[in-house]
Amino acid sequence: MSTGPRSQTGPAFVPLARPDMGDAELSALADVLASGWLTTGPRVKAFEAAFAQFTGAPEAIALNSCTAGLHLSLLACGVGPGDEVITSPLTFCATANTVIHAGGTPVFVDVDRATGNIDATAAAAAITDKTRVLLPVHYAGRPADPLGFRTLADARGLRLVEDAAHCVDALVEGRRIGTIADFTAFSFYSTKNLATGEGGMVTTALAEDADWMRVAALHGLSRNAWARYAPGAPAQYDVEMPGFKYNMMDLQAALGLVQLSRLAEMQAHRDALWARYESGIAALPLLGPAPVPETWTHARHLYTVLVDPARSGWTRDELQRALAREGIGTSVHFRALHLHTYYAQRFGLARGMFPHAEYHSDHSLSLPFWSGMPLADVDRVIETLDRVLATGP
Ligand SMILES: Cc1ncc(COP(=O)(O)O)c(C=O)c1O
Repeated sequence: MSTGPRSQTGPAFVPLARPDMGDAELSALADVLASGWLTTGPRVKAFEAAFAQFTGAPEAIALNSCTAGLHLSLLACGVGPGDEVITSPLTFCATANTVIHAGGTPVFVDVDRATGNIDATAAAAAITDKTRVLLPVHYAGRPADPLGFRTLADARGLRLVEDAAHCVDALVEGRRIGTIADFTAFSFYSTKNLATGEGGMVTTALAEDADWMRVAALHGLSRNAWARYAPGAPAQYDVEMPGFKYNMMDLQAALGLVQLSRLAEMQAHRDALWARYESGIAALPLLGPAPVPETWTHARHLYTVLVDPARSGWTRDELQRALAREGIGTSVHFRALHLHTYYAQRFGLARGMFPHAEYHSDHSLSLPFWSGMPLADVDRVIETLDRVLATGP
């Protein structure tokens, strides 16, 4: 597959990310189209089973997004008006929005300056008698100390929900992400390590909550369409609750099954790209991602550097614009949530409250990184950075 559109004059554009899709995904999709069943059905069941086996979690519930997974997880934890959920401001808005959708209040605490992950000590200090859930986010694919958060949640009688949108494949001390929290929500959005276009999965060991989630994810119907239209099955359903429209389609699950079977190979390529970036960045006035402890693995979702004018003479925004002119796609993960109008106004937040999240928000730049990316494109990014940084903004 090509790495992106070509400009008429310059070299090929290096995109920030692309879904890594090949012939196997194409033929899996063709099979679904030919099967006569596009929506939630046997492939979703098979994907749930395969994902549960991959993570080692007893239950996996396939959904149409990680956002849906976070929302249902928070509802399953009983979050409602008056409840507080402690989370990171250095995340995508979905993390906090789902707390608000559940009726609760997101309580932000600062991140660790080195890792960008929620600071466990700050989280512990923010617990009040209204706190119901701890919601760490595994930023860029680096586990946010889930064993530490598990211990904290248990000690304080709280539920633990992990936002693992970036962290489909990681272990801490032999324990896989997806098996530690009460609920772990994964994303299969197009740019994620495992992509289904849109899509998500929740893993849990709580069988009753998993059953509730499957019903809540499809309008609250007692039986989904696949179960009703099967030969000889009862055609009736009962509405058990006012549920949501959060179900995954077989079209998505077919992609998910192939992507899951390719995940080890795709992750190995991400490792190779990561190592190439590490050696290139070491010679530049930029700061690469903090290493993980030896007993952990990093899911390698984003390769994000910190661009500090004190080091490089460049602001992040200047460098991002210069790279765009050179045909290199980048992104910012993330503008800290408390700096966005809605959260600032609704929760009375302002710059200065979470200085480490603000540091990442102001200085982080995600470089092109996807599992189909040629190693030569990393060289091109590094060479471009080297040349551009040497000139001054
Ligand atoms: C940290 C984080 N949480 C949640 C989400 C939401 O994922 P989805 O798009 O699958 O709903 C994203 C999406 O990129 C994310 O980056």
